[in-house]
Amino acid sequence: MKIFFAPMQGFTDFVYRNLFKEFFLGVEKFFTPFLRVENSQVRKKDIIDIEKSDNYQNTIPQLIANSKDEVEIIAQEILKLGFENCDINFGCPFPQQTFKKRGAGILTFPDKVAEVLKATEKIPELKFSIKMRLGNLDKNECLNLVDIINDTKLEFVTIHPRISKQMYNGEIQLEMFSKLSTLIQHPIVYNGDLKTKEDIQNITTQFPNIKAVMIGRGLLADPFLAQNFESDKNGFDAKIYLNFFNRLIEGYLAEYQNSEVMALNKIKTFLSFAPSKISTKHVKTIQKARSISQFISQLAVALNSTT
Ligand SMILES: Cc1cc2nc3c(=O)[nH]c(=O)nc-3n(C[C@H](O)[C@H](O)[C@H](O)COP(=O)(O)O)c2cc1C
Repeated sequence: MKIFFAPMQGFTDFVYRNLFKEFFLGVEKFFTPFLRVENSQVRKKDIIDIEKSDNYQNTIPQLIANSKDEVEIIAQEILKLGFENCDINFGCPFPQQTFKKRGAGILTFPDKVAEVLKATEKIPELKFSIKMRLGNLDKNECLNLVDIINDTKLEFVTIHPRISKQMYNGEIQLEMFSKLSTLIQHPIVYNGDLKTKEDIQNITTQFPNIKAVMIGRGLLADPFLAQNFESDKNGFDAKIYLNFFNRLIEGYLAEYQNSEVMALNKIKTFLSFAPSKISTKHVKTIQKARSISQFISQLAVALNSTT
């Protein structure tokens, strides 16, 4: 079973993606956080993030758009840089996007979905895919989109079986996933709540026809998850994990012109996805670190006290 790394705005930037590939195996494709248009251009910061990817073949830039013009502006930029794939975000649940009919907000409007998907025909050099929720307001919204999706040339469709108001924590709606995945004629990728090898096994047993699984939070918390699944091992090497964090900090220091405060603040955000073996008490202690060296030594203590 192929494993894809989900796009995670604020986390899976190029620093993280490039280093992850250096340290861990088992992930076949890495999706970038979405690129968006601001003042009729793609945000510079978004372009830099995809441009600095170390491997354009296993990186899939994602765009978010509510019109054919926005799709074209972003996709042309992605193509110009030399990427082969482009994913379209039909899943972002945040009102800032959904109110503007972007992300999951577009799912209520089949005409808008059709406009965005039609725009992909203008850029035949790129292989497109979509990542969608079941709906914005209602889980049945996706059923109105089946024909449009089937009429579009797509590599695959990733389904996160929730609606917007559930954000990332409401109950996964597997029955509707099952229905939708049979109706859609493109290869299907499952996404949502896979945190352990057993979770991956269960979903692939239940849905043997899926092409791949996409994992976000599960891989952030346990970067060994994909390689363990692939090799049928169970391992969490604290030394490697710590080394990975050391290198992440170096990467962010370089990004923030050596500002320790900024690099420290950034790296602390990753504690919201700390490995389950690190206790909440330890997470709180690490969160209080006042320097990078304190952060690393407290992380080491936390890891050692559990291994
Ligand atoms: C902090 C955060 C940022 C996210 N950013 C994106 C994004 O840029 N594009 C996207 O399609 N999904 C984004 N997602 C959704 C994830 O890709 C994924 O669909 C979701 O976390 C469910 O998968 P998981 O249970 O494996 O984490 C984000 C989720 C979180 C929690």
